[in-house]
Amino acid sequence: MTDRPDILVLNGPNLNMLGVREPTIYGHLTLADIEEMCMERGEALNLAIDFRQSNFEGELVSIIQKARDDHDGIVINAGAYTHTSVAIHDSLALTDLPVIELHLSNVFKRESFRHHSYISDVAVGSICGFGAKGYALALEAMADLVTDA
Ligand code: DQA
Repeated sequence: MTDRPDILVLNGPNLNMLGVREPTIYGHLTLADIEEMCMERGEALNLAIDFRQSNFEGELVSIIQKARDDHDGIVINAGAYTHTSVAIHDSLALTDLPVIELHLSNVFKRESFRHHSYISDVAVGSICGFGAKGYALALEAMADLVTDA
């Protein structure tokens, strides 16, 4: 155990395909590149980063449930489950941890089915449209939330 705040950065379905997946929308960086960037930002912000991805809704729910015991905050890009998953909404609601919702793309400039989020109302705030840089912005915001003033 470290005494640094421990942040879960959780990625949902198809984000393992970043780099080859619709690069005009999601950019050319891979998820491994983004993980490396998060590790560096974490070091600079004195946060321990637990970077995870799953394509399975139930697995994401289980990871979120467990975060209650061993993390201090959650940054989540739930991918398409953002727009469909009451189960992920409920698991985030029960954690009692600060949650930041994250999307690479500006979902509000896209199809209307991406305009509704089951995560926004259990999140402190949302970041979207800044590409991979959004992960760094989310960690900065999270550092403020979990660090005593
Ligand atoms: C996404 C936006 C979602 O609508 C989409 O289903 C994704 C990625 C984003 O990061 O922009 O998988 O969450």
